[in-house]
Amino acid sequence: MKNKIEKAKSLEELQALYTETFGKNGTMTAKLKTMATLSNEERAKVNAENTELRQLFKDKQSELENAALNAKLATEYVDVTLDCEPEQRGTLHPLTQSLKELSAIMESFGFTLWTGPEIEDDWHNFTALNTPEYHPARDMQDSFFVENGNVVRTQTSSIQIRAMEKVGVPIKMFAIGSTYRKEWDATHAPMFGQMEGLYVDKNVTMSDLIATMRALLSRFFERDIEIRIRPSYFPFTEPSVEFDMKWDNGKWLEIAGAGMVHPNVLKNCNVNPDEYQGFAFGFGWDRMAMLKYNLDDIRPIYDGDIRWLKNNGF
Ligand code: DAH
Repeated sequence: MKNKIEKAKSLEELQALYTETFGKNGTMTAKLKTMATLSNEERAKVNAENTELRQLFKDKQSELENAALNAKLATEYVDVTLDCEPEQRGTLHPLTQSLKELSAIMESFGFTLWTGPEIEDDWHNFTALNTPEYHPARDMQDSFFVENGNVVRTQTSSIQIRAMEKVGVPIKMFAIGSTYRKEWDATHAPMFGQMEGLYVDKNVTMSDLIATMRALLSRFFERDIEIRIRPSYFPFTEPSVEFDMKWDNGKWLEIAGAGMVHPNVLKNCNVNPDEYQGFAFGFGWDRMAMLKYNLDDIRPIYDGDIRWLKNNGF
């Protein structure tokens, strides 16, 4: 038996030998049962054998357990010195960055942020903005119509109406969000971003509009921005203007529509135009982001491809 124990190759094999020796019908168990009939001398011999075998089993067991552990360590180790992929840190998308910057600037000017639904009813998107049904100006915007005569809002101007209906005047609000029109090329996406500003009070003038626009652009682009205004047309403003801004290459870029809020718009919101007047402006803030970050194609901005973002330094 000693020999067998010595040669056991696995814990299972050792367990079998143990049962063979100390089990119910084991050889040693049988010997121990005869103890009472043995002489002192023989008894001492059996005892010694018993102790020796038990020790042998114990030693062999720890030897086999160690071997099993070592085998496991040899195959299942983790090499902590191996190089691993560098940690990837996320960054804010350029549009998100611009949205936050523009919002912070408007808030610092005392304008309050308003939001509105992206599926808008005819009243807020058109009619209240002095653009009744069959008004030719509706064609200025290729609208996506949904059920019940609603549209996916074509302009954030709808939020001017919602805000004035809710809190009246005086009001100094802005809104920034997504707008939708049927167009899709390098410079137009069917979903794009607009920002809207509205300031109505008793002494608001065109000069306030010009100063606000200039300060806003200069803060956003972090340098003094030269602007000019041209006469334009929007149903919801009178007079209406278009803002241009002088870009690095000396060219004038058309960037925003604006004007003095049309009396009809004020009336539609139960505001007396003889008492109150104000300015409003609206522009594509995703275009502002493109200018600020030197991006020339609007499409990848909305693709969500991280490789493009990384290649452009975001
Ligand atoms: N809503 C206009 C557009 O989408 C932009 C605009 C022009 C907004 C003049 C205004 C405004 O608030 O006064 O083209």
